[in-house]
Amino acid sequence: MRVLVLGGGGREHALTWSIAQSPLLEKLFCAPGNAGIAAVADCIDLNPDDAEQVIAFCHSEKIDLLVIGPEAPLAAGVSDAACAAGFRVFGPSRAAAMLETSKTFTKQVCDDSGAPTARYAAFDTPAEAKAHIRANGAPIVVKADGLAAGKGVIVAETEADALAAIDHIFDGPGGGSVVLEEKLIGEEASFFVLTDGKTILPLAGAQDHKRAYDGDEGPNTGGMGAYSPTPSLTPALEKMALDGIVTPILNEMSARGTPYAGILYAGLMLTPDGPKLIEINARFGDPECQCILPRLKTDLLPVLAACADGALAGTALDWRDETCLTVVMAAKGYPGSYERGDVIDGLDEAQADPKVTIFHAGTKTQDGLTLANGGRVLGITALGENPAKARTRAYAAASMVRWNNGFYRTDIGWRAL
Ligand code: AMP
Ligand code: GLY
Repeated sequence: MRVLVLGGGGREHALTWSIAQSPLLEKLFCAPGNAGIAAVADCIDLNPDDAEQVIAFCHSEKIDLLVIGPEAPLAAGVSDAACAAGFRVFGPSRAAAMLETSKTFTKQVCDDSGAPTARYAAFDTPAEAKAHIRANGAPIVVKADGLAAGKGVIVAETEADALAAIDHIFDGPGGGSVVLEEKLIGEEASFFVLTDGKTILPLAGAQDHKRAYDGDEGPNTGGMGAYSPTPSLTPALEKMALDGIVTPILNEMSARGTPYAGILYAGLMLTPDGPKLIEINARFGDPECQCILPRLKTDLLPVLAACADGALAGTALDWRDETCLTVVMAAKGYPGSYERGDVIDGLDEAQADPKVTIFHAGTKTQDGLTLANGGRVLGITALGENPAKARTRAYAAASMVRWNNGFYRTDIGWRAL
């Protein structure tokens, strides 16, 4: 198979790393890719959000499977356009990806399917939203309706913070309307399923660490580390999430004439009343993908193709009975402003251990050197027979990476230990 993966983050390095191991692979491309991805795929300079460019490349390189990593190409309709052009695509349609791109849409789907989620109200104007906050008080969660690059959610503990959040959201990306919801209490978990629109194949659970600093302090980020499996998402809770949340939502999408196919990421709060949905993403989590795929023993490529073909029925997945843990190294300043261009050394020594893999998230190569080229830069990933061993191994590798302006959390996986 000739495969094109869209994206250039840690998630796409894990996807290409996994696909590259398939005996069915003939040729692998990634657009735009990064310095790590270049070791397993041909990185190409095209805009992954531009359907015309993607389709022209698929024609010229006779691509058999297009795999869409991030949400932006989904929101731009690249999946629909490539399907219409006759290509096989792993990634939901734009209409189905609304489960990620619009929070009010997802709330309506939850209402119509009975999937448990936080109580909410949606508003189109700052004045109405502020009146609701004054009437209901804090704590309250304020969310931009649209995609806001991970910066659209404020968990406000005071009324003043909630009111300030309204101005911040209406002035920022994803503004235009706002969802106000009840603050849920519990532990968070990420739950992933693969679906072709008919069959649902549970993939794995993982736990992400969204705050920038140790002890879950500091600003929210895209994720500073993750591990899988997560003991908090027990088989019983996973079944509740599958039967009570994911399946009804997918059935509702089919009933609406916009079946969802691809990977579905359910962000859950494990509350005393059972799992409740916080959000849906129409893609793999990042860094959750980096700690899930190394556990998968089954060849990923035919599974992705079966998903795209509507032929997932009968597929079974085989997992390594180990914990996998990823520590994200980010540039000092992230998730605020940071410098690019520092030289990173020691990567070969750090991954000398066969149980360690370093996924690149934001790197580039220049004159034979690896340079930092993003906020989240590396995902130091290790397998171990239990969470403690995976963690020790990942941190031993992280300590060998020489990068003056990098930082990482030192407590990834603390809840599992
Ligand atoms: P989201 O972008 O929807 O995943 O939200 C980002 C983070 O905000 C989540 O990972 C949670 O930590 C937090 N959050 C979102 N919604 C709620 C809620 N209803 N109650 C408590 N925390 C929330
Ligand atoms: N790790 C959170 C996300 O991928 O959105």
